[in-house]
Amino acid sequence: MGISKLTTDKVKERMDIAEVVGDYVPLKKKGQNLWACCPFHGEKTPSFSLSPAKQIYKCFGCGKAGDPIQFIMDIEGVGFQEAIRHLAGKYGIEVEEDQDRTPEQDQAQNERESLFIALGFARDFFVKNLQSDEGRSIGLSYFKERGFTPSIIEKFDLGYALDGWDNMLKAAKSAGFQEDILLKAGLVLQKEGDPSRIYDRFRNRVIFTIHNISGKPIGFGARILTKDKNQPKYINSPETPVYHKSDVLYGMFQAKKAIRDKDNCFLVEGYTDVVSMHLSGIENVVASSGTSLTDGQIKLIKRFTNQVTVLYDGDSAGIKASLRGIDLLLEGGLNVKAVVFPDGEDPDSYSRKVGSEAFQAYLAANSRDFIGFKIGLYQEEYAKDPIRKAEVIREVVLSIGKIPDPIIRSVYAKEASNLLEIEEEIIHAELNKSILKTQKDFYNKQKQEIEAEEAIQEILPTEIETSFEEILRIQEREMVRILVNYGTQKLSEQEISLSSYLLSETEDLEFSTPVYARLLKLYRYALVKGLIPTVEYFIGLGDQEIQKEVIDLVTMRHEVSVHWADKHQIIINKESDDLSLTGYKTILRLKRKMVQKMMEEAKLKLKNAELEKLPDQQIIGFQELYFELKKVQLEIDRELGIVIG
Ligand code: CTP
Ligand code: MN
Repeated sequence: MGISKLTTDKVKERMDIAEVVGDYVPLKKKGQNLWACCPFHGEKTPSFSLSPAKQIYKCFGCGKAGDPIQFIMDIEGVGFQEAIRHLAGKYGIEVEEDQDRTPEQDQAQNERESLFIALGFARDFFVKNLQSDEGRSIGLSYFKERGFTPSIIEKFDLGYALDGWDNMLKAAKSAGFQEDILLKAGLVLQKEGDPSRIYDRFRNRVIFTIHNISGKPIGFGARILTKDKNQPKYINSPETPVYHKSDVLYGMFQAKKAIRDKDNCFLVEGYTDVVSMHLSGIENVVASSGTSLTDGQIKLIKRFTNQVTVLYDGDSAGIKASLRGIDLLLEGGLNVKAVVFPDGEDPDSYSRKVGSEAFQAYLAANSRDFIGFKIGLYQEEYAKDPIRKAEVIREVVLSIGKIPDPIIRSVYAKEASNLLEIEEEIIHAELNKSILKTQKDFYNKQKQEIEAEEAIQEILPTEIETSFEEILRIQEREMVRILVNYGTQKLSEQEISLSSYLLSETEDLEFSTPVYARLLKLYRYALVKGLIPTVEYFIGLGDQEIQKEVIDLVTMRHEVSVHWADKHQIIINKESDDLSLTGYKTILRLKRKMVQKMMEEAKLKLKNAELEKLPDQQIIGFQELYFELKKVQLEIDRELGIVIG
C-alpha cells in the first residue's frame, strides 16, 4: 500500500495502452485505432477499440472504457494500487513506497496482495527445494526421467515439496508470514479435531505451480511419486480469494502469446501434457486439469483465439464422458476441432514416444472438425445396431444446435447429413426441434451480444420516432464533444481558445442533460484553477460517469449518424472543418435547439391555457412568448444559412 506519487507518475509515463491490452487480447489495426474482441464480454466481432493517440480503450458493446490503469483494474479485478504495481512490474519500474505512510497503512496490506506474496514465497521454496539433496534425488530425477529439461523446469516453476509435516510452515513463519495468510493461501491445513495445529498441505511430492494470466503463482498441483494406492495421485490447492478454479487454465500464462500467434488453443487434460507439449515445441496449449470445462475457462480462451483443438487420449469411453464439456465450447461460439491419440496414448506419452517432429505432424494430419469427430465416434455403434442411429442423430444434432452462428450451423448440418447418410431435411427438422427447445437459453445468452452490437449503431438511433429531448441531448453532446476534443486549441484569427469562446457563449444556457451540464461545470472549474482540461485530466478525476462520458466523446463514431443527423437538422461537425467556424456553428445549432424546446413548451402552455379557459391576458402572454422565440429562431436560421451557405 501507499505507492509513492513518483512511482505512479513513472508508471503513467511509461504505460502504453496497446502494450497493456495486447497482453490479453490480439489487436488488429484499422484506421487510427486498434480493435479487438472485447475481453470483458463475449463477442465474435470486435467492438473494443484502443486509441494509441489518446491512450484509452473503449468497448462499443459493453461500454467498458478507461486508461491502461483502469484496464488492469477491470481485467485483473484489482484496485488502483495493485494495478500500478502490476504495470510497474511489467515495465520493470521499481516500486517506491510512500514515505509518510502511517503504521496503520503499513499494516493494512490488502489481503489479496498478502496471498500473492505468500504464494510467491511458496513457489520459491518449492523451486529451491528441487535443488536440495532430497529434491535432486527424488524430485529432479523424476522430472528427468520424464524428459523435462532444466529450462522447462524453470519455465513452469516446477518444484519439490520436502518429506515432513512442517517444512513449508516453519520456513514461511520465520520469513514473517502469519498462519492465517498461509491457511487462506491453501498452503497449510488445520488438523482435524484440533484446528490450532496446522501442517503443510504439500508433502513429499513434485510440484506444478499454477499461475494466473500475468504469471503470478496462485496455486499448486502436487503429484505423488510412489505407487501408494491409498494416496491421491494429485493434491491440488483449494479455492482461495486469488485462485478461482473455474476461471483458470493450467499453462495459460506460458501459452497466451503462442495461442494468439497460432490463433489456436490446444486443450489437454493434465499438467504433464502441457509441459511435454512445450518440450515438443508446441506452446499454445492449456489444461483443464482433469475437470470439465467451465464458462469462465471458455471466456479465458476466447480472449486469445476462437479456435480450440481438443486432444483426446485414445480411449473412447473417456472421450464420450467428456463430450458434454465440448458442447460448451460450441455454445461459446468457438470453432472446435479434435485429435485422438492411438489407444493408450496421451499427448504426454505420445510426444515422448515419437519425438517432436512426428508429434506435430500427427496433430496436423489427425485434427478434424468436432462434428465429424463425434459422428465418427458413434459410427461403429450404429453400424452394428441400426436402431441406435436415431439416437446418434439426435446426439449429433444436439451439438450442432449449440452453435450460435446459423451459417456455420448449416455447414455442419450438411456435413452430418453426408456422414450419417440421411437427408438434410431430417437433420434440419431435428435441428429446429432442438433449437426451439434451447431457444430461451440461447436467446438470453445472445441478448447481451445483440444489445451490444445494436449499441454500436445506436449512437444515433435510426428510428423515425425520436423525441425532441433526444435531439436536444445530442446537440448538447455535440457541443461538449467539440469542447472536450478541441477546447484547448486556439482559434485561428482570434487570440482566444475555442473553449473560452464556447464557454462564454453557453454561460447563460441551461443544459437539459445532467452529465453534460456537469462536464461543462467541471471544465469551467478547471480553467478557473489554471488547469488544462484535457481528456487525461477528466479521466484522472476518477469519476466513473465523467470518465465514461469523456471517452465516449473522444471515441464516438460519426459515420453511422450523418444521414440521421441531417434529417433532424443536427449539426455533426467534420473534424477537418475550420475550428472557429465549427465552434460558431455548434453554438448556433445548440441555441436553435434550445429555443425550439422553449417554443414547444410555450405552445403546450398556450394549449393548456386555452383548454382551461384562462384569462385572455395570459393566453396572449404565451402567444407573445412564442412569437418572440420564433423570431430568435429565424435569426439563428438566417445566420446559419450564411455560415453553412
Ligand atoms: N488430477 C487431479 N487429481 C487426481 C488425478 C488427476 O487433480 N487424483 C488432474 C490433474 O490436473 C492431472 C489431470 O487431472 O494433471 C490429468 O490426470 P492424469 O492424466 O492422471 O495426470 P497427468 O498430469 O497426466 O500425470 P501423469 O502423466 O504423471 O500420470
Ligand atoms: Mn498423463
